[in-house]
Amino acid sequence: MLVTGNEILLDAQKRGYAVGAFNVNNMEIIQAIIEAAEETRSPVIIQASQGGIEYAGIDYLSGLAKVAAEKATVPVAIHLDHGTDFGQIVSCIRHGFSSVMIDASKLPLEENIAETKKITEIAHAVGVSVEAELGKIGGTEDHISVDEADATYTDPEEAKYFMEKTGVDSLAIAVGTAHGVYQGEPNIDFDRITEIAKLVDVPLVLHGSSGVAYEDLKEAISRGICKINIDTDLRASFTNTAIEYAKNNPDNIDPRKMLGPAREAMKATIKEKMEVFGSVGKAD
Ligand code: G3H
Ligand code: ZN
Repeated sequence: MLVTGNEILLDAQKRGYAVGAFNVNNMEIIQAIIEAAEETRSPVIIQASQGGIEYAGIDYLSGLAKVAAEKATVPVAIHLDHGTDFGQIVSCIRHGFSSVMIDASKLPLEENIAETKKITEIAHAVGVSVEAELGKIGGTEDHISVDEADATYTDPEEAKYFMEKTGVDSLAIAVGTAHGVYQGEPNIDFDRITEIAKLVDVPLVLHGSSGVAYEDLKEAISRGICKINIDTDLRASFTNTAIEYAKNNPDNIDPRKMLGPAREAMKATIKEKMEVFGSVGKAD
């Protein structure tokens, strides 16, 4: 069933688990997510980045996501990931997304607040949930790219002020994770999560969660993280499996034979993450 981001994340916050938010670009990825969620009875968030929307087209991607969410017997939210473009955010709302992220984190604080507030007013007027970002998460995710030197951790007091001014429903915080493939080991500032959670009422979001040790993800959840974004690990599952199939079957010309196993591999990765996040069984 299609629900808002808020419905999913407030339950996670209340019961102390996290919901996986998985990036989608095509039908097979959406199917893998929904099947994993159904089989584990997990609430789940399907999210599309600006790049994903450009690749598939908003009509196709929202159409696929809506069919999947409406058919599902577990709660599903359809979310825009890292929205930076006013027109595209409004278009996503119009196409049935139940949650949007406004990422104005590159702007100075007061400008981030102004942009975030504008989107929040529009989204809330039509019952759509809003995620915002404060601090700068390093690495590259489609159109979002922050050099390691420019990455800045979220300041807890600033987070409190940001929340009072914007009234968003969830907050993405920068605490040491990074988008994309890690060069070294991520070093998460767990105490910062605790500090922010003390001052901010809404569910907190962890980006750049691929490649992070499962023990670290569990610790982050125990400190107040309620939504965990995963993209890179799914890309790797999907692509590596498809490549492997193509290598072993050089004469195959049927895309289904290659994409079917890729979908299965991705589903297995998602189910493993759902166990770690503690969302298994929480749909009922
Ligand atoms: O917004 C999406 C994520 O933050 C995904 O990050 O590709 O490192 O898993 P990741
Ligand atoms: Zn992200």
